[in-house]
Amino acid sequence: MANILEVKDLSLHYLTRFGQKIGAVTDVSFAMKQGEILGIAGESGCGKSTLVNGLMGLFIPPLYPTSGDVLVGGESLMNRTPQEVRKNVLSQKVSMIPQGAFNALNPTRKIKDIAADVIAAHSGSKNINKQQIYTRLRERFDLFGMETDHILNSFPIQLTAGERQRSVIGISTLLNPKVVIADEPTSALDVTTQKVVIKMIFDLLEKNIFSTMIFITHELPLLRHVAHNIAIMYAGEFVEYGTAIQVVHDPRHPYTRALMGAMLSADANQKSKKPTTIEGAPPSLAKEIIGCRFAERCPSARPECKQKSQSLRMVGERLVRCDYAE
Ligand SMILES: Nc1ncnc2c1ncn2[C@@H]1O[C@H](COP(=O)(O)OP(=O)(O)O)[C@@H](O)[C@H]1O
Ligand SMILES: [Mg+2]
Repeated sequence: MANILEVKDLSLHYLTRFGQKIGAVTDVSFAMKQGEILGIAGESGCGKSTLVNGLMGLFIPPLYPTSGDVLVGGESLMNRTPQEVRKNVLSQKVSMIPQGAFNALNPTRKIKDIAADVIAAHSGSKNINKQQIYTRLRERFDLFGMETDHILNSFPIQLTAGERQRSVIGISTLLNPKVVIADEPTSALDVTTQKVVIKMIFDLLEKNIFSTMIFITHELPLLRHVAHNIAIMYAGEFVEYGTAIQVVHDPRHPYTRALMGAMLSADANQKSKKPTTIEGAPPSLAKEIIGCRFAERCPSARPECKQKSQSLRMVGERLVRCDYAE
């Protein structure tokens, strides 16, 4: 089966007003087949959301592609203007379920009008009129047992957090995108609402509205049950990539091990949904990093780790960016 998404040596940077280059994503490569779910985890600031923008081909200054390629259905998303990406890529080829549903919704428009705006902006050359959009929206919301009339005729402020988030998900997947990216879709929600949102995402998968998904989350128990493969990101790089079972139950990179420990202890402690921390902080991406990026915090670092940069290599059947991992 052909790859639906191919990411080849993708590096991305921000260029600050002061001319400083921040290498937020470095040499990321992976491929996905239709029906695959990839989980991505890593501490805050490790480049996950930047990678998401790259995967949509959406480069809005100060974000720029440094090198590499992203192909969806064999077609490169690079070298396109943001206008063209909005018109021909977003919602159709790749769609993102955003982090905070509230910010994603214009407070002055009703849900049905927001949907019509979004779809009109993203439907490329296909001319879909408002009535067709409403009909499609109704069918979709009904399919999920939502209070369709009430929701479509409400302003965002009149809805519950769960209804808003589900509206955003409904709208962003209305055009049946090939790849859906959920970037911490539940991180701003309470536990009950989180469950509703997760259920909706699973409903969508089950009903085959979309089948290929990248799921970025700290919810390790969720990832472990849902994702086929998991990538762990640290300081802009993939440090481990393998099947969910390999990465969660038998992590090999010292960072993955530390992260798993932190995420699992957060999970055991129901009160705090935030991961407990790993001592220290990821390195600044504003200057070139010599040696292993995790060496400063690594419990098993050797003196040479601070000099020698690490490449991904096969350890058993997964990729690990550490010369000493076994
Ligand atoms: N607009 C921006 N300008 C400059 N640097 C940014 C910008 N957005 C993010 N960054 C930097 O890029 C790095 C990766 O950030 P991000 O992709 O948001 O990480 P994550 O989603 O994993 O938390 C961080 O060092 C962050 O400070
Ligand atoms: Mg993020």
